[in-house]
Amino acid sequence: MRVIPLAVVASLPLTSAVTLSRRASTLIPTSALDNTSVFEQYFVYNYPWGGDTHNGGARMNKAHVNIASPGVLTLTAQPVKGQPPATHGGKQIPINYLSGAVGAKQHFTVPTGGGFVFSGSFQATTTKGTWPAFWLTAVNGWPPEIDMAEWKGSGKISFNTFNTSSVLSWKDVTYSNPDKFHDISCEVKDVNGQDTQVKFYMDGALQATHVGKGYTGKPFYLVINLQMEGSSGSPGPTTNTTYSIKNLEVTTL
Ligand SMILES: *[C@@H]1O[C@H](CO)[C@@H](O)[C@H](O)[C@H]1NC(C)=O
Ligand SMILES: *[C@@H]1O[C@H](CO)[C@@H](O)[C@H](O)[C@H]1NC(C)=O
Ligand SMILES: *[C@@H]1O[C@H](CO)[C@@H](O)[C@H](O)[C@H]1NC(C)=O
Repeated sequence: MRVIPLAVVASLPLTSAVTLSRRASTLIPTSALDNTSVFEQYFVYNYPWGGDTHNGGARMNKAHVNIASPGVLTLTAQPVKGQPPATHGGKQIPINYLSGAVGAKQHFTVPTGGGFVFSGSFQATTTKGTWPAFWLTAVNGWPPEIDMAEWKGSGKISFNTFNTSSVLSWKDVTYSNPDKFHDISCEVKDVNGQDTQVKFYMDGALQATHVGKGYTGKPFYLVINLQMEGSSGSPGPTTNTTYSIKNLEVTTL
């Protein structure tokens, strides 16, 4: 820690002195995955905007979200038949799975001069037809959207930041050892009171740096879901697929 001589501190305007002494605060602690009762203090089941389907072939429910051992959240996608289709963007999507999605109860708004760190350790599949993700999306309108990690059934992990539906920054990285847990961390930070810088890390190594246009001051939902088919191809697996998360934490910068 840098030691600031008292005389210097005393001469700073009050706001600077406050900034110097500010410490990161924890918004979602790693203990949130210790058991179902603490988990439900921080998260809701299904999509946080309401609804049990989105842009792929899974219908979400609470029964496919589980804390089997303390500290590890597991979402399971189970093949099913006879489900009514989903409707998304005016199109019907066949539902071939029941699966799990969870959303943080709180919203995250990058303040001018501040930001957040979202981190966790993930065991995700890259099998065709499986589409696990850890992402932030706009509470009001769209974009903003930051895909802090998504796996679209291609053997890769993708990191995306959207300015519009057609103007986006993306990075696809080969994803080795999907059976193992990999650390993902995403730092989002105000640049100029309007735009937000996004840094994506995997296993401690910086993968990409993007800038989201006009993201500062706009609230985000945090979503963890095991979507199926859709952008990850079809048909998906004929047996259960799991997606597990541990050491999940959200702090301010
Ligand atoms: C759940 O975990 C929290 C946080 O670790 C702990 O305080 C609480 O006692 C646990 N509750 C149960 C029912 O195990
Ligand atoms: C998105 O907008 C930001 C802010 O204007 C800009 O820095 C960034 O390059 C844009 N991204 C793309 C893909 O054009
Ligand atoms: C598939 O997952 C569901 C939901 O967790 C579970 O009830 C079912 O027993 C699983 N099937 C197999 C074959 O493991």
